[in-house]
Amino acid sequence: MTRRAQVADNPLASRFMHGRQAGPFSLVIFGASGDLTKRKLVPALFNLYKDGFLSAPSSIIGFARREKSDDAFRAEMAGAVRTYSRRQPDSDDQLARFTANLSYVQGEFENEGGYRQLKDKLKHAAVARQTGTNCLYYLATPPDAFVPIIRNLNTTHLVTPITDGDDWSRVIIEKPFGRDTASAWQLNGVLHGVFTEPQVFRIDHYLGKETVQNILVFRLGNSIFEPLWNRRYVDHVQISVAESVGIESRAGYFDSAGTIRDMVQSHIMQVFTLIAMEPPASFESSAIRDEKAKVLRSLRAFDPKELSSRVVRAQYIKGSVGGELVSGYLNEEGVPRGSTTETYVALKCLIDNWRWSGVPFYIRAGKRLPKRVTEVSIVFKAPPLALFHQAEGNGRSPNILRLRIQPAEGISLSLGAKVPGQQSRITPVRMDFMYSSAFGVTSPEAYERLILDAITGDSTLFAREDEVELSWQHIDRITQQWQALPLNTYEAGEWGPKSADDLMAADNRTWMRL
Ligand code: BG6
Repeated sequence: MTRRAQVADNPLASRFMHGRQAGPFSLVIFGASGDLTKRKLVPALFNLYKDGFLSAPSSIIGFARREKSDDAFRAEMAGAVRTYSRRQPDSDDQLARFTANLSYVQGEFENEGGYRQLKDKLKHAAVARQTGTNCLYYLATPPDAFVPIIRNLNTTHLVTPITDGDDWSRVIIEKPFGRDTASAWQLNGVLHGVFTEPQVFRIDHYLGKETVQNILVFRLGNSIFEPLWNRRYVDHVQISVAESVGIESRAGYFDSAGTIRDMVQSHIMQVFTLIAMEPPASFESSAIRDEKAKVLRSLRAFDPKELSSRVVRAQYIKGSVGGELVSGYLNEEGVPRGSTTETYVALKCLIDNWRWSGVPFYIRAGKRLPKRVTEVSIVFKAPPLALFHQAEGNGRSPNILRLRIQPAEGISLSLGAKVPGQQSRITPVRMDFMYSSAFGVTSPEAYERLILDAITGDSTLFAREDEVELSWQHIDRITQQWQALPLNTYEAGEWGPKSADDLMAADNRTWMRL
């Protein structure tokens, strides 16, 4: 079937198709034996292929330490597509056509040998598959491999300077991008010794989620919300990222990161800046990223004197999640004895700018909470006069706009409505929009969108150098004072520690029920 025919068969593809088809390219995945490649990257590439976004002659090369033939790699990745892809192949033949684009190079990240072999493969693809020197390097490795890979790409002359005609080299770099400001700064320095900023794509998969992208469309594509999006109408904002899973088998990484580095510095800061930013001058990547960076510049620093009233950290102890008994963090495999790493964080953020002065943004993120849900709630101010009796509760119920990022993606607005009957009693009701019922198609996975963006050179949904460094500066202010803060505990399956409720109660507020 031709690509056009495939696309015509697929309404989602044709809707996204406009101007988005990748020209010929090579993609090299460093860390091709890892979980990310299997679970996310190759299934995402398969879905792009199925939707007709990848031109036929592209070449996808896995690079990893393990010895493996091209055929073995293809078979493994065909299995990964069958197991993890959002959609199954239409036929064995379609899957075989996709995997025919894959090949493998065995090499050590630190030694030049593998890179020479890689160079041969790329040269071959340049001619046989007309990819030219267009190449996207995907660093899907543990962070300690980032620097050696970047250096070896340079010394073996695998990076095309940006000035070389239409050909391009780009790099996607996975999180964590550093573990503090100094290491992020250093990594940026190494990257910029080889790539210019427009060639660097720092991936944060939250930005690839449909619902996260919809934050800007919702705010700026409708005329009724933006006038309310400020300190005059908004009482406060809550961003909650709850996970029911624990640390799975990632103690080695997680214990040295903790929730503040793992979730807050990256995913949550991205969502936070999209909610708080000013409307950009245009929908260009630099205009949007300028506005996001400005929010981080206006975020009030976490002063040591107010830290205990603005930050809560905690760790889960044993409990029960979804009816299953689970162990506490300290008993998870691989966690060092007596570890004080936090698995839950709550923060009160304040933005000192014209739009948000005095409006707190409360953030919470944690593992082993009762369920997996990510939500942003914009809580509006109550009407100035209580003219009606409340049917429920004592206080006046505010209007709340809830942006459900996942699961059951959607948006709901709670309003006060009259209870039927003789009295003027008011009760909150909800107006709901659900992605699944409104569009009736499954959204592309975050990685599909982001990989295609990198191949087509659109960096809007990737973090820029200054954003990453600014967000680390705020996190550093907190982590430098970690030891001064008590490490609270919460039972697995509870909504975090009591101290997080106290943080809200001190402001006469409560966390949203999720
Ligand atoms: C990853 C974190 O970046 O995001 C994990 O390292 C976390 O700890 C995951 O579980 C959450 O992603 P999602 O898409 O499941 O919300």
